[in-house]
Amino acid sequence: MKPETLRARLEDFPRLKLAEYPTPLYRLSRLSAELGRELYIKRDDLIGPAMGGNKCRKLEYLMADAMARRAKRVVTFGGLQSNHARMTAAVARRCGIEPHLFFFEPRPDRRPGNLLLDELLGAHMHFVPFGGGGQASMTLETANRLVRWLARLRVGPHYFIPVGGHAWRGCLGYVQAACELTEQTRELGIEDAWVVVAAGSGGTLAGLLAGVALCGSQLKPLGIDVGKLWKGFPASIAAMAGELCARLGEPRHFAPADVPLVEGRYVGDGYGKPSLEGNTAIARLARSEGIVLDPIYTGKAFAGMLDLLERGELEGESPIVFLHTGGAPGLFAFPHLGEGGGRDG
Ligand SMILES: Cc1ncc(COP(=O)(O)O)c(C=O)c1O
Repeated sequence: MKPETLRARLEDFPRLKLAEYPTPLYRLSRLSAELGRELYIKRDDLIGPAMGGNKCRKLEYLMADAMARRAKRVVTFGGLQSNHARMTAAVARRCGIEPHLFFFEPRPDRRPGNLLLDELLGAHMHFVPFGGGGQASMTLETANRLVRWLARLRVGPHYFIPVGGHAWRGCLGYVQAACELTEQTRELGIEDAWVVVAAGSGGTLAGLLAGVALCGSQLKPLGIDVGKLWKGFPASIAAMAGELCARLGEPRHFAPADVPLVEGRYVGDGYGKPSLEGNTAIARLARSEGIVLDPIYTGKAFAGMLDLLERGELEGESPIVFLHTGGAPGLFAFPHLGEGGGRDG
């Protein structure tokens, strides 16, 4: 179907608009010249409240549903530097709903970066030092079920948002983004571009896969795993992409092997831990184009993209669009990242 037909189908679902679209898509001229390949950036880091990011698009659909159900409290969970948790708290406050955030870590002594913003937003923070998934010890779906059960006991009635906003309603936001990107890349004459994105819960990638398939786009999404977090990660992304297509009236099957995900390779020491390659990539983009990435998601994904490019694994001549999904508040939890890079005088 055409992107405008898909857009019309998306309108069947309640949405609380939190940003202006389309987000900017433009060429990175200095880096393209350095790399000898056309490189573009899509600025989803610029959208949404409390310093924004990709979760804005997911929360537009999720919080509209929470409001329709007259929820008084919303619960979600993530790592200590979860951008999703921070943005959920912000959007909940905007809707007059009480935010509850679960972190499966010991209560930290200091609360920098996203935790500082969570505190400013008055989020109820629950530190539970066990469970919650991670290290590929359980599937994302099992982790969600366990936390949902725990939250029912600790918080009472609430609207539950899975980790990373990984519910079909939330992922509709990235089906929408796939329409937007299809139209923008057609206008720029780069309609067969790779679209490289960080994969945490995988919902952004699943939404893009479904959207691209539904609107017959030539775009080639590619996810870079930043956490080695979930058992059966490609299967989970495939199932989500399939569910999105079904909800939009055109059921399709996605096999785990068809999910374009580079798993494990660019994670470094694990989820939530900056990597040397990621930090180098952050500095490279900042110094060549004045754009700031983050150490947990986009820095690692950008480093992965540069490495794949160098190894010739992004085959063909197609341009590359890096989808900047945000996360900058996480930088302030790791102040040593900037050491040695600045110049006095
Ligand atoms: C900055 C940033 N980029 C990328 C992602 C990954 O998005 P997804 O969870 O949809 O894979 C997240 C959240 O997990 C994020 O906070």
